[in-house]
Amino acid sequence: MRNTYLDLVASFGIGGAHPGGFSLTKSILKDENIQPNDTVLDIGCGTGQTAAFLAQRFQCQVTAVDNHPTMIRKARERFESNDLSITVLEGDAQNIKLMDNSFDLIIAESVISFTTISKTLNELSRVLKSGGRLILIEMAAEQSLSEEVRNKVSSLYGIHEILNEHEWKSKLQQAGFTQIEIIETPSGLIQTDIHDSNQSENINADLYDLWDEHDRFITQNHDVIGFRAFRCQLI
Ligand SMILES: C[S@@+](CC[C@H](N)C(=O)[O-])C[C@H]1O[C@@H](n2cnc3c(N)ncnc32)[C@H](O)[C@@H]1O
Repeated sequence: MRNTYLDLVASFGIGGAHPGGFSLTKSILKDENIQPNDTVLDIGCGTGQTAAFLAQRFQCQVTAVDNHPTMIRKARERFESNDLSITVLEGDAQNIKLMDNSFDLIIAESVISFTTISKTLNELSRVLKSGGRLILIEMAAEQSLSEEVRNKVSSLYGIHEILNEHEWKSKLQQAGFTQIEIIETPSGLIQTDIHDSNQSENINADLYDLWDEHDRFITQNHDVIGFRAFRCQLI
């Protein structure tokens, strides 16, 4: 079954579609040591804004994976029009068609929460090289969530597991990650300004209503659902 919130993001072709947006991405990546020979995976790449930035800024070897055909098409268009040599794969983060120990760095920006979290973390752990780094930006519960909020997150975003900071750390550890640190960011799942978009023709009118619903939810719940950015390493 399709996830309609992700159809919304894909149809409007929104880049930086994660808490903190592309500004947060750039502020995190500016402190990363990424060399031209490094292999980097952007998992759940969306329309490829971060993947393109990685390739342009660091000249590293980037692979971009997403399971949404519209996202993949728009990511390809972006890479082609910027003359970037990025490997693009349409595929599932929970079952990545890539070899073990392939990447020096993986970045996942608001992706893992849309999947079965442990399954995806185990896959990322498998394709990451020993000593490799994982950066993730994900939704996090700031307090115990009411059933009403959980049901809303499930129906609006198709997200069924909303972890708090402690639970994220624990799942990361279970998947073999160590040296787990929280990257300092403004807390709160704030509405991020959209600076990058590639809108499809003939957008379904229902998606505009969904966008309003999403805006309302974020405004009403920024105290209870925030986000965390983590940096960790594989043993
Ligand atoms: C909120 S968007 C974020 C996109 C991009 N990372 C960004 O920050 O702009 C979530 C992305 O995860 C992708 N995604 C969700 N579940 C996935 C899965 N099981 N495998 C691969 N990609 C997935 C969606 O298609 C979508 O592009």
